[in-house]
Amino acid sequence: MESWGGLHSLRRGKARPLAVIFYALWGFVAVSVACASSPSSSSLSSKQKLQVQKHLRRLNKPALKSIKSPDGDVIDCVHISDQPAFDHPFLKDHKIQMRPNYHPEGLFDENNVSTEGKRRRNPVTQLWHLSGKCPENTIPIRRTDKDDVLRASSVKRYGRKQHRTIPQPKSADPGLINQGGHQHAIAYVDGGKYYGAKATINVWEPKIERPNEFSLSQLWILGGTFGEDLNSIEAGWQVSPELYGDNNTRLFSYWTSDAYQATGCYNLLCSGFIQINNEIAMGASISPVSAYRNSQYDISILVWKDPNEGHWWMQFGDDYVLGYWPSFLFSYLGDSASMIEWGGEVVNTEPSGEHTSTQMGSGHFPEEGFGKASYFRNLQVVDSSNNLRAPKEIGTFTELSGCYDVQTGSNADWGHYFYYGGPGRNPKCA
Ligand SMILES: *[C@@H]1O[C@H](CO)[C@@H](O)[C@H](O)[C@H]1NC(C)=O
Ligand SMILES: *[C@@H]1O[C@H](CO)[C@@H](O)[C@H](O)[C@H]1NC(C)=O
Repeated sequence: MESWGGLHSLRRGKARPLAVIFYALWGFVAVSVACASSPSSSSLSSKQKLQVQKHLRRLNKPALKSIKSPDGDVIDCVHISDQPAFDHPFLKDHKIQMRPNYHPEGLFDENNVSTEGKRRRNPVTQLWHLSGKCPENTIPIRRTDKDDVLRASSVKRYGRKQHRTIPQPKSADPGLINQGGHQHAIAYVDGGKYYGAKATINVWEPKIERPNEFSLSQLWILGGTFGEDLNSIEAGWQVSPELYGDNNTRLFSYWTSDAYQATGCYNLLCSGFIQINNEIAMGASISPVSAYRNSQYDISILVWKDPNEGHWWMQFGDDYVLGYWPSFLFSYLGDSASMIEWGGEVVNTEPSGEHTSTQMGSGHFPEEGFGKASYFRNLQVVDSSNNLRAPKEIGTFTELSGCYDVQTGSNADWGHYFYYGGPGRNPKCA
């Protein structure tokens, strides 16, 4: 726990698998148009319009049924074998795996509770369910429209993180940390081999000051070296006006195998994640969200590595196994993760030269506690024997604790937990 060296010492000298390099190139040639920042469609040249249309045709697969959600989204029910993952040249002959070989078990095992009991306790679901269901053998995909793509700084960047920095606890170089204005309040474990992680995450709808900022709460499964060849699998909830065009809280996932450079994306916005579930849509709004001094809602997220095939699976709540990231997408994570992080991240663009007032979590500091501050509870990691365990020696990290902070604790009900977040700009954070 002393130094950040743990991660570096786990680096292996061998070259990255060909698959990863090939994928990076393929990702680059797939989309190469850049448009001016947020142009209206009328200001686009016909060449640019054509590029946007081509990109939309690539993303939006033929739907067997389309569902109009109350939040304005259109959810397309796409045949499971037509999903974006199968555009990947390495997945042309992939035999889709309809269920994991193993499911990690252990602490806080909720599999014993009856389905009725589970649904009563955990009523968080997705808004589009009010308008319909996707048939069997399809998966629900949030449709991307022209405006979604045009809000991105370029067609190429749509669905990908801006060259972001990564929460890098205990870095020797603080300059690295705050690059690009990304700020974090996180808990983490490192120095071991991890085969997954789980947490139950309080759900809020933080206020975002500027459309190109965001606020998210997630877990990270990490391997490799920050800024160079980091492998990361991420999942949680986010509010991102730029990505979705509104301020709704949405379920999301992200992956990269090269430190956010050429590979990876949010949700199903590139080929990678293979979805098997017909009830939960990546990028769709989750509802209800918690209110200050009022009802609290939380979601459980579990990501784990199937010991047989090596794929990384994701589960939402107790009932929904969403699908998997095939092992070949990754280099380090082809083996195991060397670090797990849980917590919040916001982008601070310093509007008008001051710290942003974009909120993290509930927008309140950890000291306020339950019903007021946002939390992660029942933090767990998956060990090499595929069991869920309490993490040992949890560290915490935040760049500016006067803006966003984190406080850990543990008890019998919540296991290891923490409260995190804050309001951004305030007298302690200017
Ligand atoms: C769940 O059921 C299994 C098998 O019946 C049992 O061994 C385990 O202790 C139970 N877990 C909990 C949390 O009750
Ligand atoms: C999102 O919230 C900001 C303020 O936090 C507001 O100015 C903006 O109009 C909202 N956007 C939408 C699409 O509701």
